[in-house]
Amino acid sequence: MKPINVGLLGIGTVGGGTFTVLQRNQEEITRRAGRPIRISVVADKNVELAKKVTGGACRVTDDAFAVVADPEVDIVVELIGGCGVAKELVLKAIGNGKHVVTANKALLATHGNEIFAAAQKQGVMVAFEAAVAGGIPIIKALREGLTANRIEWIAGIINGTTNFVLSEMRDKGLPFEAVLKEAQRLGYAEADPTFDIEGVDAAHKLTIMSAIAFGIPMQFDKCHVEGISRLQAEDIRYAEQLGYRIKLLGITRHAAKGIELRVHPTLIPSKRLIANVEGAMNAVLVKGDAVGATLYYGKGAGAEPTASAVIADLVDVTRMHTADPEHRVPHLAFQPDAVKAIPVLAMGEVETSYYFRMRVEDRPGVLADITRILADQQISIDAMIQREPAEGEEQTDIIMLTHQTLEKNADAAIARIEALSVVKGRVVRLRLEELN
Ligand code: HSE
Repeated sequence: MKPINVGLLGIGTVGGGTFTVLQRNQEEITRRAGRPIRISVVADKNVELAKKVTGGACRVTDDAFAVVADPEVDIVVELIGGCGVAKELVLKAIGNGKHVVTANKALLATHGNEIFAAAQKQGVMVAFEAAVAGGIPIIKALREGLTANRIEWIAGIINGTTNFVLSEMRDKGLPFEAVLKEAQRLGYAEADPTFDIEGVDAAHKLTIMSAIAFGIPMQFDKCHVEGISRLQAEDIRYAEQLGYRIKLLGITRHAAKGIELRVHPTLIPSKRLIANVEGAMNAVLVKGDAVGATLYYGKGAGAEPTASAVIADLVDVTRMHTADPEHRVPHLAFQPDAVKAIPVLAMGEVETSYYFRMRVEDRPGVLADITRILADQQISIDAMIQREPAEGEEQTDIIMLTHQTLEKNADAAIARIEALSVVKGRVVRLRLEELN
């Protein structure tokens, strides 16, 4: 059977993994796809590296634009990343009638609407399993496996770097900066870890999952993004005492008034399976109305785990490329004319529970003042601990967990509590989700 020809753009970690796994498992992949999948050309700025990795098995060039215009290439695999030249190349490949497989979450979260519209017009596929949670087939699960369901919410640990840092902070009781340095030394965190640590990478992945779960356009600019750099070791410790772990979660929910789309450190009950996802692993919890809660776990990054997702897409495209475009799985899981622009809720309108930590003077009436403010804002307290003050100490920490409330009520209560003369400094506020 005639092979399908792939043009690979970028032979870094994931590109190299893709090349290796395709070669190693060629026989089984061919039996599944129905014809051989062959990388016929690789484009990389580092031609020497590309030659070394491919060992003369295919053509090598430094001209990616020639690859997306090459008549021999059926599928372009974009593994360059970012929204600059990668966007231009993907749009050119689509314009030239080529199918595209990409791992580029930033590109899809920010320009996906334009890219999918172009692909639909040209009748080509853009596949992106590798863009979310590396090797976990979460796109396949959301778009196909759960298609009977009204998806209610998704909560995911979708950034391995931050999960590694949080796991280490909890295990070793160390501050954020010390753990980050160690993570960089071990290669778990990039030299510039900003995108991971500040939640941007997770927000890209969450935006993509939200779009295909609810049949809405990509709305990355509406995503609330908060990372872990301000998280303090003592809050991890207090959360633990109350039966919770802190994870950087990407949460998207179809609420009555709109879509919640938010990434932030979150307390979750320690007894939940997802709370026990440690180190650089990823996990996504999806709640469907028919199936209930389902959990997907695995490696969210790395050469071969991500290659596993890239090659799954290559097999899908190979199987489907002769099918009438109308009979393929739609890019956003919903038919293009059924995608609805449901608004993303402002954070003030989001309903969740809270963890508050405040430093207060240890004397009569302080707790009464605080609980009066919470009652005025219709905020109900679920649990509370007060740290025993040390000998001679006149201040102490109060930690409270609340029941669900609107974020704007929580903000108003915090502003009033911080204005009390008996409260010292800022109130630490973290969100809490029971995930039940
Ligand atoms: N940098 C990501 C992570 C993997 O730490 O999970 C690629 O998105």
